[in-house]
Amino acid sequence: MTHERWNSLILALFFLITVGVLAAKGISLLESFWYTPTAESTPRRPPVSPFGQLSIVERGKLVFQAAGCTSCHLARLEPGGPQVGFPVGPNLSNAGVRRDETWLRDHYIDPQKLVPGSKMNSFAYLPPEELDALVAYMKTFNAQREPADEEPNIVIPERFTQDQVERGKTLFTSQGCVGCHTIGKTGGPIGPNLTRAGTHGRTDEWQIRHLQDPLSVYVIGPTDGIPWPMPRFNNLSDEDLQALVAYLQSLR
Ligand code: HEC
Ligand code: HEC
Repeated sequence: MTHERWNSLILALFFLITVGVLAAKGISLLESFWYTPTAESTPRRPPVSPFGQLSIVERGKLVFQAAGCTSCHLARLEPGGPQVGFPVGPNLSNAGVRRDETWLRDHYIDPQKLVPGSKMNSFAYLPPEELDALVAYMKTFNAQREPADEEPNIVIPERFTQDQVERGKTLFTSQGCVGCHTIGKTGGPIGPNLTRAGTHGRTDEWQIRHLQDPLSVYVIGPTDGIPWPMPRFNNLSDEDLQALVAYLQSLR
């Protein structure tokens, strides 16, 4: 064979291989469009999410922590646990007793609609199932959540006298505070447990203002006509107010 013939034979072979490779590629490409997986080839596994396996209350606790509720609220994350958070909004102790499911859900979505001027921001961005979990979690904030059988230690700050504290203690019963608030083993479960009220981080000025118009410390603007679960004690004398604050701040 001549040199030229060898050359053209190699060229023809090369051409054939190239055409073959391209054809195979093209067919597999077309197949990828036509091919639809059958039921057997992709077994359906149920989606495994650790979040989905928790109870609704446990999920609510995670949402509560992730959403940053304790940046404004004092709360016990679990029953009997320590109180954590910052005292900007109301103490959430017993909040599940004083608020029903509908109020809680609507309030997360638009706090200002229920409490005009509220300093609380909206959580409408949370998915509906996370809002439901948050509602279920908040409903577990009842008297059972508070540490059982604890009596307060009375530690009187230097700015108050023993007489003031005793007068405050008497007023706490005669003014009906005890109907809503528990101290030690006695009292009602509507308002926060006050066994350690002196450790909640409230100043004396805050306490006075809160007693005279409780909602005023939580909203910007007027409070008239807005329903609030603690009544105003704006008919008390300055002395009585001071005595109540002395008692509250001594509860440690
Ligand atoms: C920027 C501060 C702020 C943040 C963050 C915040 N809150 Fe509030 N919250 C408030 C204030 C202020 C009030 C009182 C006014 C009102 O009711 O809207 C309040 C009221 C409440 C009440 C009613 C309490 C009562 O005594 O009846 C509940 C329940 C509540 N918040 C739950 C939550 C939850 C749950 C979160 C997190 C998803 C949260 N808050 C985040 C400030 C805040
Ligand atoms: C009808 C029920 C009710 C009565 C009566 C009542 N409270 Fe309250 N109290 C509440 C509720 C609900 C809250 C939570 C909302 C808030 O902080 O205003 C609260 C909150 C408080 C707080 C704030 C606790 C904290 O650390 O956040 C103090 C202190 C307090 N009350 C003291 C008193 C005193 C003192 C009296 C009597 C002069 C009194 N309360 C009467 C329902 C009541």
